[in-house]
Amino acid sequence: MARDELLDPSALPEEEAAPPPAAAAGAEAESLDPVASLRPRTLEEFVGQTELKRRLAVILEAARRRGQASDHLLFAGPPGLGKTSLAGIVAAEMGVTLHVTSGPALERPGDLAAILTKLGEGDVLFIDEIHRLSRSVEEVLYPAMEDFQLDIVLGKGPAARSIRLDLPRFCLVGATTRTGLITGPLRDRFGLVARLDYYEPDDLRSIVVRAAAILGAVIDAEGAVEIAGRSRGTPRIANRLLRRVRDVAEVEGDGTIDAAVAREGLELFGIDALGLDKVDRSILSALCERFGGGPVGLSTLAIAVSEPTETVEDVYEPYLIQQGLLLRTPRGRTATPAAWRHLGLVPPASAIPASEAGLFD
Ligand SMILES: Nc1ncnc2c1ncn2[C@@H]1O[C@H](COP(=O)(O)OP(=O)(O)O)[C@@H](O)[C@H]1O
Ligand SMILES: [Mg+2]
Repeated sequence: MARDELLDPSALPEEEAAPPPAAAAGAEAESLDPVASLRPRTLEEFVGQTELKRRLAVILEAARRRGQASDHLLFAGPPGLGKTSLAGIVAAEMGVTLHVTSGPALERPGDLAAILTKLGEGDVLFIDEIHRLSRSVEEVLYPAMEDFQLDIVLGKGPAARSIRLDLPRFCLVGATTRTGLITGPLRDRFGLVARLDYYEPDDLRSIVVRAAAILGAVIDAEGAVEIAGRSRGTPRIANRLLRRVRDVAEVEGDGTIDAAVAREGLELFGIDALGLDKVDRSILSALCERFGGGPVGLSTLAIAVSEPTETVEDVYEPYLIQQGLLLRTPRGRTATPAAWRHLGLVPPASAIPASEAGLFD
């Protein structure tokens, strides 16, 4: 649904596949169709995140041996790192049906009850953006997760009575961009809370090579390294950049993606050497040029770049922080000296931490 695209400008539909007729109806159906996309289908195809994969493999294998549904799983991390893919992989590895919904889509307890009562034994229920569940829906979810029971209230007022239904043992997979917004009681009911990290350049390179093979694009080793290095640590972005660069290779060259073509293509689409895009750079330049390097409040910064606060916080900041360009301080956001230099500016003395400044004394 549109929500994902709102949060993540790179969450474009996987436009490559000839869209099946049903795809137009909803991005969900399209994006979860492994044949039509670059989505990894098995744990083995899922590149990187080694620790997480090992833990997950153990949990799934143990559940399989017991002939039970796996414990509930929560995946957290910035958009595009593979949370939705993992939900599909869990269902595929367990050989069960995947049911997909999201926090905002479950407006009332009845919406959740309708989905829960459709589940088969062992099925996977994937709730994307689970931090956006309403309180009343969350309360229905607790007994469902813990005891596989659903309490339904019939009627209103003094005549109201509640009935209890048994649910099949299912596996809830939750995804969130913000672990901080998950309530304690909900979090505690997951058997595994796993954080996805930004990918190493080497993993991204493998992802690019794999995607190129699926797309039938010709890419050499340096071309893959170039794209991987500018993907903000994010597989979804790596795949998107690959497609753009492939277009350039086909239109302006002989179709082969090498380092030069990759660089040219990435520049054409406004991706700089660190992989920052236009919005990343406008956040940094607002911070440095309009607010003197900060500290400035998140909402002020978001307004300055005309992006929703949530998008700045969930999508852009984590990578800028990881790259050491931006700091979250109690008084607001500040630019590091590296941010000034990346923009080709000279950091003011105030931006240089005492330890570093000392070097020049
Ligand atoms: N570990 C991975 N290996 C290969 N491709 C990946 C991996 N993680 C993500 N991708 C690619 O990135 C895309 C976005 O991943 P997705 O699971 O939708 O991320 P999220 O749900 O965290 O936003 C997928 O369609 C897939 O093509
Ligand atoms: Mg997702």
